[in-house]
Parts: sequence; structure tokens; C-alpha cells
Amino acid sequence: MSTLQRRSWAEPFKIKAVEPLKMTTRAERESYIAEAGYNTFLLRSRDVYIDLLTDSGTNAMSDYQWAGMMMGDEAYAGSENYYRLEKAVQDFYGYKYLVPTHQGRGAENIISQILIKKGQYVPGNMYFTTTRLHQELSGGTFVDVIIDEAHDSQSTHPFKGNVDLKKFESLIARAGAENIAYITIGATVNMAGGQPIAMENLRAVHALASRHGIKVVLDATRAMENAFFIKKREAGYADKSIKDILREMCSYSDAATMSGKKDLLVNIGGFLALNDYDVFEEARNMVVVYEGLHTYGGLAGRDMEAMARGIEEACQLDHLQARIGQVEYVGNRLLELGIPIVKPIGGHAIFLDAKQFYPQLEQTKFPAQTLAAELYLESGIRAMERGIVSAGRNKETGDHYFPKLELVRLTFPRRVYTQAHCDVTVESVYEVWQNRSKVKGLTMVYEPKYLRFFQARFEKL
Ligand code: F0G
Repeated sequence: MSTLQRRSWAEPFKIKAVEPLKMTTRAERESYIAEAGYNTFLLRSRDVYIDLLTDSGTNAMSDYQWAGMMMGDEAYAGSENYYRLEKAVQDFYGYKYLVPTHQGRGAENIISQILIKKGQYVPGNMYFTTTRLHQELSGGTFVDVIIDEAHDSQSTHPFKGNVDLKKFESLIARAGAENIAYITIGATVNMAGGQPIAMENLRAVHALASRHGIKVVLDATRAMENAFFIKKREAGYADKSIKDILREMCSYSDAATMSGKKDLLVNIGGFLALNDYDVFEEARNMVVVYEGLHTYGGLAGRDMEAMARGIEEACQLDHLQARIGQVEYVGNRLLELGIPIVKPIGGHAIFLDAKQFYPQLEQTKFPAQTLAAELYLESGIRAMERGIVSAGRNKETGDHYFPKLELVRLTFPRRVYTQAHCDVTVESVYEVWQNRSKVKGLTMVYEPKYLRFFQARFEKL
């Protein structure tokens, strides 16, 4: 049975180019992580063995995409690749208008500035770091309306990305629809553990929002992966194609922000996609200020071509099966070893529950930051903190946000690592788990003002 399961996610590709990895000694890693202020973002990539920091921009492109790179039309205006990308977005996602951006946060900046008036609320199914920051910089206040199960690492709800319609409705009643800029829907929800939203829920959110004249903005960064979960888990979708499911998902939104660096199998790129012509016109005007002309948005022509081709590849069922199957394989092995991870296993990553690793550490001793550092020390594997450091501070009170979830994310780049790398990862996490009682935590010695997790520095307690 287990052999059969493994085969079911075997990679639908073979390897054509390889990139050597460096192995390091424990003594070397001790000095590297201390130099990096116990922040895995500050490590040099050459000192990392298996890099599970992020699935963002770290994907392996196909020969088809690389061939497309040679077809880059690097004209300042009207690049052919822009039109190819526009067509792919219209065809696969179904939005009318496209504004390319250098990556996801470029699109977030533009849509936040256009749609948010100072003092308005912006509900969403859990925050994402850059998304919320752009909303705040535009004068908005984020309100979390995700279901409670999403904040419980052990709830096995199949769609932990769902919006709690009662929370959304009560915000509308409390604040008034005119004080709500729009609702952001993440699909899948990164900070909840890569958890999907159900089509039924998305449909209901759209219906409720529309009744009150509130726009729905989809964060489509990992929407193809969300579509895969809908196909596997939601009644009525087993026989639908990923493309059809994706189109239906997008049909319940007015606009999408996109980081192509995830789903779309590229190293750089993103876009804002829209249906409303007036908003499009403003966005197209603004992109010129922040990103570049509206037919390249901070990207080279070749990057747009790679992303257009990535769209075609990303929604292939066998690709998604292998991609999500690999994550599932690691997750199931960790569960067999009794290691606490967020359940169900998400789409792009395994999230270790740092609170359960280190019950001896209060959240102000940064359990997840500590765990990420310990894992690097153990084996040279790089993971990412997704807990109190990532959550940042409340802009009014200046206090830390204390998120319920204190997690370390092992994020899998698409088409990059082999099953043997996965096994090494499992063994290393197990070793760190075995040594968990000795750990004393960290103290923060430098804190940047924005998105502090990227550059904060720590010392061992
Ligand atoms: N939305 C989601 C759900 C994301 O995961 C990210 C990036 C963004 C927006 C912003 O996109 O990086 O292209 O500007 N997430 C990366 C990560 C950084 O590691 O999860 P970007």
C-alpha cells in the first residue's frame, strides 16, 4: 500500500541540470548562525544544505520555460511577452485586465492604495505579512475573519482557510459596509499552514460581500494548489479540471494579487488582475510610478514569458499531485514519528508546532525562531519562523501581536528536492525533537521597523 502511495506522487519530470550543494560541519554552522543573529533569513545561501526557507522564487523552471526565456522581447513598451501573459491570465484565471508587477507585494501596494481610504477596515482570512503591511500603510486596519479552527494547529478541518461568515457579517454590522475597503481572500492560507478555502465558502463570501457592495480581492499566490485541494476534498469537484476549478474560484472575486514566484514556477514575477475597468485604469497609471511601464511592471520580457509558460505547467494535475504529494510524504513521516505539526498537512509546507517542541519557553523567548536555528545547527537545513516574530507589533499599542500559532515552516520549492532530501529532513527534525528539553530560547537584540522577521537579530539565552 505504501509503495503504491509513493508511486502516485512520483515526479512527472526528470532532471536535466544540477546545482551542487555544500555540506558543512556543526562547528561551521555554529559560527554561521551566530553571525546571522540566529535569523535564518540572514544566513548566506552557500552555507545552507537543504533550503526550505520558502517556496517563493526558489522553483526549478522547465526546459519549456527556459526556452521561453530566449523569446524575451525586451522592448520598453508593448513587449510581445506581455500580450502572451495577458492571454494566459485571461484564459486560466478569467480576469479581464492585467497589470504585471515585479512580485506579489508590488500588486498589493497598488491595490491597497487604490481601494483603501484612511480609517477603513480590510477583513481577510488570516493576515499575510506583506499584504497586511500594505493595507496598514494605506491607512487600513486588518480584521481577521478566518474560522477559529485555523488558529488551532490540531484541528483537522479540511478547509481551515474558510471565512467565518458570522465574523464577516458582524464586522459589516459593526463598522458599516461603507467602512470596509474590501475583503482579501488567501487561497491557500499561508500563515494557517497552507490550508485551503472551500469553493462553497468562497461562493458564500462573494454573495455576502456583493450584497453589501464590498469587493473581494483574491490572493491567488497559491490558488492552483487550493484548486487541487478542492478537487480532492470537496463534493462535486473530483471530475473537474484544475483549470475549471481555478476559473470558478476567480469568478467569485473582483480582482487578484499574484506572486508568480509560488504557483507559477518562476524565480521572479507577479501581477494584479482586475475586472473593473476604472480600477484597472488607475492601477495601470500607478504601476508606472512604482514598478515600470504597464506592459512590463518591473519584469524583463523573458520573465513574463517564463510566467506565462509557468501558468500552463502549474495547473497540470500530475504536477500538483507530485508537488503536494511530496509535502504530504514528509508530513506523514513526521506524524509517524510523533512530531507535532499543523494538521491537515498543507499545500506548500510542513509547519512544526514550536509551542509543543518547547513548552518550557514563553512566547517572548521566541520558540519558533529558536527551533529554526536549532534545525540549522543540526543539519544545515534552513526553515522559517512563522510565529511571534513574523506577527510583528500592533501599530497602535506597539505591543507584540501574540499569534496563537507559533510555527516553523519547512517550505518545499517546486521541482527542486528529491525524496532522499525529504528523508534527511525528517531525520534532522527528529533529532531536534529528541533534544528539545535542553533548549533555552532567544532574546531579540535588533528589531527593524517593518517586517521585522526578515532582518531582526537575536542572541542565545
Ligand atoms: N501573498 C502570499 C500568500 C504570500 O505567501 C506571499 C509571499 C505574498 C503574498 C507576497 O508575494 O513575496 O512575491 O512579494 N510569500 C513568501 C513566503 C515571501 O515565503 O511565504 P511576494
